Amino acid sequence: MEEERIISAVEQKSDRTWDLTLRPQALGDYIGQNQVKENLNIVLSAAKQRQESLDHVLLFGPPGLGKTTLAYIIAKEMGVGIKVTSGPAITKAGDLAAIITNLQAGDILFIDEIHRLNKTIEEILYPAMEDYALDIILGKGPSAQILRLDLPKFTLIGATTRYNLISSPLRDRFGVTFRLDFYNEDEIADIVKRSANILGVNIEKEAREEIARRSRATPRIANRILKRVRDYAQVKADGNVSHSLAKQAMEMMAIDQYGLDDLDRRLLKVIAENFSGGPVGLGTLAAAVQEEAGTIEEIFEPYLMQLGFLARTNKGRVATDKTYEYLGIAKKNNQNSRLF
Ligand SMILES: Nc1ncnc2c1ncn2[C@@H]1O[C@H](COP(=O)(O)OP(=O)(O)O)[C@@H](O)[C@H]1O
Ligand SMILES: [Mg+2]
Repeated sequence: MEEERIISAVEQKSDRTWDLTLRPQALGDYIGQNQVKENLNIVLSAAKQRQESLDHVLLFGPPGLGKTTLAYIIAKEMGVGIKVTSGPAITKAGDLAAIITNLQAGDILFIDEIHRLNKTIEEILYPAMEDYALDIILGKGPSAQILRLDLPKFTLIGATTRYNLISSPLRDRFGVTFRLDFYNEDEIADIVKRSANILGVNIEKEAREEIARRSRATPRIANRILKRVRDYAQVKADGNVSHSLAKQAMEMMAIDQYGLDDLDRRLLKVIAENFSGGPVGLGTLAAAVQEEAGTIEEIFEPYLMQLGFLARTNKGRVATDKTYEYLGIAKKNNQNSRLF
């Protein structure tokens, strides 16, 4: 389902073709995330001055906020190569060994979705990160031997949407950790401006702001909406994107003024109506809306919480006054007790 949702922060196949053109290549073109950029600048300058390889970097935050982009930028700024893989793609120790032994000193190994790395691989990674050594086990049983391979001084950049799923020994081996946050509307409007420029789209300021408001504070979604709006403008008008045209296009895509769609509203309605505002446990909620718990936690909730339309308590998820206001339904009182 996340495959087709226009406002899904998760990467879709069609995004990839645009990434090459729209992805900022230098830190100076990377909009927003000012604190991260400032800190990163210091870390990068220090490593360059000392002519050392960069410390291992962990990037975390909701999907679509610019983790992969940042990894490529770091490689570019350091003037080093980058090899890209992901947690689920590394299934055998040999896969990891093959990648790392092919790196040059200073190169970056980017492991996306690093929380999905299996435990055995993770353990091989510890000495690789710490001592730049890879222990390969040859043979089986009592006659097995360990062969220690020296590795080039590489930099591991790990990215994750689920910080709490990273084991603490792995976390501890990263020298720097950056957390990416949702962007504010001005920043997203700037990103839309930049992308429109690259794509050669003539777009009104108010239209950029309208897209920014409905993009869930997420660059990936903003770019995706921009492309759809551009198509709409080409077919329905003269290709120029006015404010009213952008609004029309987004209404046609069923994206409302908060950037929410039917799936978000269904989730909120279930909490507000079926569970009388909660608290409702994640598992129960997932079953009720027939979504995976992980998807709810990773994709739906961060932005709904950001809007104040949902709160997490230790008893479960609860609707807020804003939820009822948004859904236009009356809050039912004294019904929470029914659930317990
Ligand atoms: N800070 C930024 N400035 C401009 N564009 C950005 C920024 N962050 C992300 N983008 C755009 O959003 C897209 C998604 O970013 P990406 O790095 O793939 O997100 P993540 O890896 O966190 O899921 C990129 O292709 C890029 O075009
Ligand atoms: Mg990514």
